[in-house]
Amino acid sequence: MSLPNSPSPYSRNPKQRPITPPQLHHATFMTMDVDAMVSWYELVCGLQPVYYAEHAAWLTNDEANHRIALLRLPGTKPPVDKPHTAGLHHTAFEYATFDQWIDNYARLRDEGILPAVCLHHGMTMSLYYTDPDGNGVEIQVDAWGDWIISKEWMWASQEFAEDQLGPQFDPEKLLEARNRGDDFQTIQKDTYNGKYTPAEQKRDVTLPDVWPARLEAQPELSNGVPGPDAEGVLDPTFD
Ligand SMILES: [Fe+2]
Repeated sequence: MSLPNSPSPYSRNPKQRPITPPQLHHATFMTMDVDAMVSWYELVCGLQPVYYAEHAAWLTNDEANHRIALLRLPGTKPPVDKPHTAGLHHTAFEYATFDQWIDNYARLRDEGILPAVCLHHGMTMSLYYTDPDGNGVEIQVDAWGDWIISKEWMWASQEFAEDQLGPQFDPEKLLEARNRGDDFQTIQKDTYNGKYTPAEQKRDVTLPDVWPARLEAQPELSNGVPGPDAEGVLDPTFD
């Protein structure tokens, strides 16, 4: 006995299967201050400008020609209530090792740059910073050290189904644990089990609003970037 050799449903009714997917390449932000953003991304994430002018910059920290782009477009205004405005919540960068990740935390702390929120999501341990414009920047390390396993964990685990944020943690406590000799897997499991929760916990992942203080310090930003009719805006030399 043999099964009839009929063509598969796909060949009878050919459908466009998922296309060869394009790779995620870069994110582009509108800003009112290219210099402030270039300096911050260089300091925090090691991004360097490939092209840099007053009206725009393109930055990268790997082999791509750019990963973050900044546009100072005429007419750009300060956001109102940015943390509660629909749009991008954060971009994210990943370290390959726990040591690199926690050492970068300490380096930035010494520069006076601290994360606003720290979460062990289960698949990553993540530090959330805000750039000068209040955009979130997550710096993470894979909790499993392996994308295949962490993806499987997100897909299949009961823990992620029940809680997609995971416990908060105090990165200082992780640094202490590393410095006293705990290994990465011990630290990440202890963190996920709530051993290193901070004294003060945030209610959610709403990032702080940087704009009220910034506009107080730089009231000229309230007027926005001069529009296309303003003198000098279309000057191609931008100096
Ligand atoms: Fe993220």
